[in-house]
Amino acid sequence: MHGMHARLPKNFVLEERIEKFSDVIELEPRSYAGRWAQACWPLTLDSVKTGFDEVRLDLGCGKGAFVVQAAADKPNVLYVAMDAEPLCIAYAAQHITEAGLRNAVVAPGKGSDVSHVFGPGEVSCIHLNFPTPYPRKKDARKRLVILDRLVEYARVLAPTGTVRLRTDSQPLRDFALTQFDLAGYDIVWSSDDERRLRPHEPTSEYEKRLVAQGAKVLSVWATPTCVPESPVQTASLSLVDYFPEDLFADGYVPHGMGGAVTNLRNRHRNRQADG
Ligand SMILES: C[S@@+](CC[C@H](N)C(=O)[O-])C[C@H]1O[C@@H](n2cnc3c(N)ncnc32)[C@H](O)[C@@H]1O
Repeated sequence: MHGMHARLPKNFVLEERIEKFSDVIELEPRSYAGRWAQACWPLTLDSVKTGFDEVRLDLGCGKGAFVVQAAADKPNVLYVAMDAEPLCIAYAAQHITEAGLRNAVVAPGKGSDVSHVFGPGEVSCIHLNFPTPYPRKKDARKRLVILDRLVEYARVLAPTGTVRLRTDSQPLRDFALTQFDLAGYDIVWSSDDERRLRPHEPTSEYEKRLVAQGAKVLSVWATPTCVPESPVQTASLSLVDYFPEDLFADGYVPHGMGGAVTNLRNRHRNRQADG
């Protein structure tokens, strides 16, 4: 298990929760690589069929709100919800169990594990819902949309498979566009306001929270078409370089970027005061 950073609620014993909902947690996800659709097919479901039609990954699933709705909408698709935080694993497993879903499982893991957890071409869609932006250059390699990760995702994606990024953050979205390009992906769909165009899509916890604060859902769907053998990073890695010139003067500041925006605004103000 990975290190835990989130604060636990009172009376919350993580090990107990994980034990209680262990039926839907795969603690050795690598052992399923290449056979998720068959291995997770409940024997009692259908005696003719032997597996799910598709496998989709919700990477950085948080507490599982998105995966619960998505799995309920598409019973023939197996959803694998993956997160690096044990607390999220426990909550996502609880929510899947309480919803009575048989087509969703939870796997502890990081973005860098994806190419070991799935076989080549096994995944039809990787959902990246409101991934942590890690705005600073020195943390850029932790982003789930960085070049090296996208190249790894391409190995497990089916021929027409997509990575679907949803975020409140224009700087992260614009950075991601540079990374999709460098990783040889084509953009197949994008929107600056997905919620308006697709009001019935499942909603994640962060989406709900940030939209209530004034965010729009920015979306990019991309499919790998020509992945380079030796990808070269040429994009600027600090998200500050993707900030708009007016520093979000229209009001909404993307999640995780408040500190950087305040610093820059103060710097501009001081410069103006100094003439
Ligand atoms: C901002 S939250 C979004 C959660 C959820 N997708 C949502 O939209 O509500 C980001 C999530 O990504 C997870 N995360 C961050 N870095 C990760 C990584 N490298 N691999 C897997 N999960 C990661 C965090 O633990 C957290 O649960």
